[in-house]
Amino acid sequence: MKEKGLFICVEGLDGCGKTTQTRLLVKKLRKRGYNAIYTVEPSQGKIGRFIRRYCLHSTKRTSAVVEALLFAADRYEHVTNEIAPALKEGKIVVSDRYVYSSFAYQGAAGLDLKWIETINKHAVKPDLAIFVDVKPEVVVQRLKPKRSVMENLETQRKVREVYMKFVENSELIKIDGNKSIKDVADAILKVTLEFLKNLS
Ligand SMILES: Nc1ncnc2c1ncn2[C@@H]1O[C@H](COP(=O)(O)OP(=O)(O)OP(=O)(O)O)[C@@H](O)[C@H]1O
Ligand SMILES: [Mg+2]
Repeated sequence: MKEKGLFICVEGLDGCGKTTQTRLLVKKLRKRGYNAIYTVEPSQGKIGRFIRRYCLHSTKRTSAVVEALLFAADRYEHVTNEIAPALKEGKIVVSDRYVYSSFAYQGAAGLDLKWIETINKHAVKPDLAIFVDVKPEVVVQRLKPKRSVMENLETQRKVREVYMKFVENSELIKIDGNKSIKDVADAILKVTLEFLKNLS
């Protein structure tokens, strides 16, 4: 592993399996002797906790501008307090959502991607960014019991369209998330191990 560690993020629609897959990837990497850690956005810091309460668990959607600014502020603290120090220690940091979630969700809400990029300019770029692609119809079904303000079909379709722009320019690597948890985990591990092999 490189001295500076490795930063991976796992992205995708609500309920596509990010948390399941991020945790599995960390477990599998650790089993292979890598010092991998799990982290998540919104972060566990003060701003992250505020976002959960104010934006995600609210009955009314916050304005996209406020969402984008809060997520960028939380990300800055997440990078400064957790991600960068762990990378400096040579760890593999796997983040359950990262900056592409801001592009996808607030971009889908109509904000300019360039502005989202500007307010996130201090966010360290991931070495490997994975998009777990699940059909919007499927995630909406999966999430029925725990619906939030961002989870209707039309929103999920728009969000996927933005993610796909990053797949098309190769910033995100698309994994077919419509398969079983095991098959998706195997595919993610394969891509990650290949990436690690090419580094050494
Ligand atoms: N490949 C899969 N096939 C079927 N069900 C799955 C698959 N992956 C995850 N699930 C189930 O879908 C639900 C959502 O999974 P998970 O919490 O990992 O998604 P998420 O992307 O982290 O969701 P959120 O965006 O809400 O954080 C869980 O009940 C999980 O067990
Ligand atoms: Mg999750």
